[in-house]
Amino acid sequence: MNSGTSKIGEIASCKLVRLPKISDPRGNLTYVEGNDHVPFEIQRVYYLYDVPVGAERGGHAHKELHQVIIAMSGSFDVVLDDGQTKQRYHLDRPYRGLYVCPMIWRELDNFSTGSVCMVLASERYDEGDYYRDYEEYVRDRDAAL
Ligand code: TYD
Repeated sequence: MNSGTSKIGEIASCKLVRLPKISDPRGNLTYVEGNDHVPFEIQRVYYLYDVPVGAERGGHAHKELHQVIIAMSGSFDVVLDDGQTKQRYHLDRPYRGLYVCPMIWRELDNFSTGSVCMVLASERYDEGDYYRDYEEYVRDRDAAL
């Protein structure tokens, strides 16, 4: 996958990506290779699990981080917000990922019981890369574009 001329901070740059799926009567297999199926080198993987029904996660943006979000099991929604437009994605297949470019606010909700949300990230954890204040995010995002 190639992010091409897409810009950071724009919802149009965020896309669903279809991951390879090796179908087999013994069970299906999906794999992800950095700089191929996702448009960055993968430096970190983390996952959300045991999320109570009704809980919300996210509620932040990242300055530099690229991510791909995958529903490994069950389903949940990701709402992307660039300060002007909001788009809701329902993720419910382990061979489908949502690429989120830097400078996009995201909220995750509507988790099904037993769902697992895996995130592939382009950088190691750095709290300094977060916007946790929406107004600050919108101000900086508008200034940057
Ligand atoms: P946060 O990114 O706010 O979670 P979410 O977006 O899923 O709601 O992170 C929650 C806590 O976990 C916060 O204290 C930071 C910590 N954390 C790490 O230590 N390492 C990580 O890789 C991540 C993603 C979070």
